[in-house]
Amino acid sequence: MFIAANWKMNLDKKSIKSFVEHLQRYKFSKNVQLCIFPPTIYIDFLSGLSQNIPISIGGQNCHHQPFGAFTGEVSAISLKEFGCDYVILGHSERRIYNKETNKSIKKSAQFGIDAKLKPIICVGENLDQRENGKALDFIEKQITDCLPEKFNDLIIAYEPIWSIGTGKIPHKTEIREMHKKIKEIIFSKSKKNVKVLYGGSVTEQNIQEILSVNNVDGVLVGGASLKIKDFLAIYGSAVKHL
Ligand code: PGA
Repeated sequence: MFIAANWKMNLDKKSIKSFVEHLQRYKFSKNVQLCIFPPTIYIDFLSGLSQNIPISIGGQNCHHQPFGAFTGEVSAISLKEFGCDYVILGHSERRIYNKETNKSIKKSAQFGIDAKLKPIICVGENLDQRENGKALDFIEKQITDCLPEKFNDLIIAYEPIWSIGTGKIPHKTEIREMHKKIKEIIFSKSKKNVKVLYGGSVTEQNIQEILSVNNVDGVLVGGASLKIKDFLAIYGSAVKHL
C-alpha cells in the first residue's frame, strides 16, 4: 500500500518542522509506504529533518530535458541528488496551468527513470468527459501517450480532475472499472503490473471506502495531507484496512 502526500505550493519551514516532529513520534507500519512531495525548495529541508523516519521524498514535477536553459524548472537529476526517490508527473494542475502535454510528460518520465526516480504519472478525465461516457477512452489515450518506452517501477495515479479539491469522488464502481482498465492497458503494452493510486478529495472519512475497491493500491492525497492530524488519520485507516 502506498500513500502519497502532495503538499503542492503549501506549508513553510515552521509548519514542515512541526509536521515532522509529529511523524517522529508516530509508529509507522512496514506495509504502508509513505512518500511526501513538498514544494521543491523544501525538499532538502524535509530530507534533513526526516533522516530517522521511514518516509520517502519526491518531487512534484521534473522537466522534460535533463538540463539546459529552462529558467525556473527543476531536473530529474537535481531531484535525485537531493534525496528524492519519486517524482509526480502530469498532475492535472501542471497540465492545465503549465500546458504540459502527454508528449512532454513521457519525456519527463524517461529522464526521471534515467535519473533513478520512480515516476508517478497522473491521469484523469474532466467532468464533461465523465458525464458523456468518454472517461475510459480518454484515459486510455493519456496512458498510451505518456507511457515511457522502458520502465521497471512505475506508478499511475488516477485523479479525475472534477474530484480534485472539490469533495466529490467517483462511485466505487467507476473507480474499480478505471483502475482495472489502467492495469490492463499497461499490461498489454509492457507485460508489467503497475500500482494504481486513486487521487481526488481523499479524506479520513472516505479512505476506507476507497481502499476497499479492487485494484486500488494506495492514494494520492492533496488537501488532507497538509494537517498532520488529518493525514495521520488517513495513514492509520490505511494500516487498519490491510
Ligand atoms: P485533493 O488533491 O486531495 O486536495 O483533492 C489531490 C491531488 O491533486 O493530487
